[in-house]
Amino acid sequence: MRQRYQDASHSPQDRTLDLLSRMTLEEKIGQMCQVDGRHDPETWIQERHIGSFLHVTGGEPERLQKLASETRLGIPILFGIDAIHGHAFQNGATVFPTQLALASSWNPQLLEEVARVTAVEVLSTGLHWTFSPVLCIGRDTRWGRIGETFGEDPYLIGVLAAAMIRGYQGEKLSDPCSILACAKHFAAYGESLGGRDSAESEVSERKLRSIFLPPFKEAVRAGCATFMAGYNAIDGTPCSASRRLLTEILREEWGFSGFVVSDWNNVGHLHTTQKVASTLEEACEMALHAGNDMIMSTPEFYNTAIRLVKEGRIKEGVIDAACSRILQLKFRLGLFDDKRYPDKSRTADVLGCNAHREKAYEAALESMVLLKNHEGTLPFSDKIKRIALIGPNCDNVQSQLGDWSFGAREFELIAVPTLDYHPEYDVSPIITLREGIRRRACENVQVVYEKGCDLLDESSHSIGRAIKIADESDAIIAVVGDTNILNGETRDRTSLELTGAQQDLLCALKQTGKPLVVVLVCGKPLTVPWIAANADAVLLAWNSGMEGGRAVADLLFGDHNPCGKLAISFPRHIGQLPVYYNQLPGWHGGTYVEMDSEPLYAFGYGLSYTQFIYTDLQVSLTETGAGGVLTASVKIRNAGTREGMEIVQLYVHDVYSSVTTPVKVLKGFQRAALKSGQESTVTITVPVSALSLIDRQCREVLEPGEFEIMVGSSSRDEDLLRQLVTVS
Ligand code: BGC
Repeated sequence: MRQRYQDASHSPQDRTLDLLSRMTLEEKIGQMCQVDGRHDPETWIQERHIGSFLHVTGGEPERLQKLASETRLGIPILFGIDAIHGHAFQNGATVFPTQLALASSWNPQLLEEVARVTAVEVLSTGLHWTFSPVLCIGRDTRWGRIGETFGEDPYLIGVLAAAMIRGYQGEKLSDPCSILACAKHFAAYGESLGGRDSAESEVSERKLRSIFLPPFKEAVRAGCATFMAGYNAIDGTPCSASRRLLTEILREEWGFSGFVVSDWNNVGHLHTTQKVASTLEEACEMALHAGNDMIMSTPEFYNTAIRLVKEGRIKEGVIDAACSRILQLKFRLGLFDDKRYPDKSRTADVLGCNAHREKAYEAALESMVLLKNHEGTLPFSDKIKRIALIGPNCDNVQSQLGDWSFGAREFELIAVPTLDYHPEYDVSPIITLREGIRRRACENVQVVYEKGCDLLDESSHSIGRAIKIADESDAIIAVVGDTNILNGETRDRTSLELTGAQQDLLCALKQTGKPLVVVLVCGKPLTVPWIAANADAVLLAWNSGMEGGRAVADLLFGDHNPCGKLAISFPRHIGQLPVYYNQLPGWHGGTYVEMDSEPLYAFGYGLSYTQFIYTDLQVSLTETGAGGVLTASVKIRNAGTREGMEIVQLYVHDVYSSVTTPVKVLKGFQRAALKSGQESTVTITVPVSALSLIDRQCREVLEPGEFEIMVGSSSRDEDLLRQLVTVS
């Protein structure tokens, strides 16, 4: 006889209640466990009733799901994966630019589509949940995980995160293409002291609420199904042990109704590393009390939690609540009614298909930022007949794809050779820069390639050969930057300068006197003042994904006009860090003994092959109280000869306030496509309530007074028009 929980005509809540009433304590705690596929999955399913696996791919999800369906209650397994810029560990899947690159597009619609494509590909392989998006604020760029973030601005992060969540989760979770999103790492994990991963984040509650929590609140508003707790501790309390964060703020204050997953063995770390628990029992007790629902990669949790309940240290009600939250999402996802097995024919149709690759191409184009273009060096004119293509990142698949994809650290950690977790990753669909430029140049332009030097090994170089081909060419494209081993989790840096012999190579190329175009293929901002001063043009390509080579070529040759803007500031020198734009005002004039504190390239900065002229800023309020709407309109004229896309940015400065507030804060932006010579009025609206601050009592309040509204092409003072408004 079909039980009530098996009948899809009942609501997820009813079905959850019914199922829960049939479950043993062991079955409930099993649902709260998540391990990776290396941990004897059969035992976990048949004896421990596991709720979720991560990093299980190939034929395994189907085999394991079938095993689960034969258990007493047949509760389906939820399979999770870090598909954070495409389903990028999967052979043949579409690999998008990394999150930091995507953020430079300032294009929520595009990001929603990128996430949708990812969801379709992830689902076709039988997985249901991606640990994405990352909502950490990237301020200290020494931190290894900067490339996983959307950059340094809470507002931009919130907008882009909400877009990705919509893309992953669709209209409703039961739609056939929806997967669960996961907002991580909650919270302030990016505020890593000294750029050191997973250590301490010293932030007050006021700073937490002003800077670090707003993107997560946006994620809740967007209906994000799951949250992941950070590895870090805030003011002595590890996030995984923080009831304040996981229960009081997330659930009680914001009304989050999904479930919280701990990060990798976060619960074990409470005892072994962070040492706030003297035993593992105590660590599990703390984690349960704080509000963790699913425990990732702490296999001991299963037996320990059972013991804790039996000994009366944890009430069964706590387990019931956590288990219900997990089950409810499984019901809402439709997993009980359609197991969503991997579908080989669908996989063949969708994985890396032409339409998805086109989206990767579009994303790569929009992610790239033109940082310098002296006297119109770019796009290349017809006079350029022979190009010397030089550098260690011209033809480097790993550098181009970036972290959380082929060759990344996590791949070594989690690859299970018996599965098709691409132990033999097929690089043939990847269009490297060398390949993209070769294809685009065709017969008209001759391209001669020389690697020039190694990314890491200073002694291994062929600078002499590079100079020779440069001497014989009309222009040089030098592709330099960093690579995976210099980025990612546990890969924090003490230097952001070019590694290996790259700087020597560039200096030698400069000596040839040929136009020098530098393309930066890197996972995060590097300190490149020499390039800024000496290159004729600089294109920031980031980790641009599988179509990156095509996008770079089309931008260099002028088939498209660059439109990306930085979502993170580039320091001039590592000693300036952190160098984010929304600093609090100080009275020492912002200088160091050796240099000023201005970044090399500021947040919001990015050039185009055309010029946009801003005039006539008008700001009005529908009403001056919290219920009002601020409208800023500005005229923009495309004064160049090419069509282009401008990203118009609106910043606010609270002139006098009860607490110090940043010199400027992004509150809105708008994309504007303009033909050559066209003038248009761009309007940006901001609710007056968005001008609130967090006061000394940590309350969100709108303080009356003057606000300076700034609109322009970047966060730099010289790029902004200003007007004052008064809020009452
Ligand atoms: C990372 C998470 C990731 C998890 C699973 C952890 O080490 O911090 O971002 O989702 O591993 O791979």
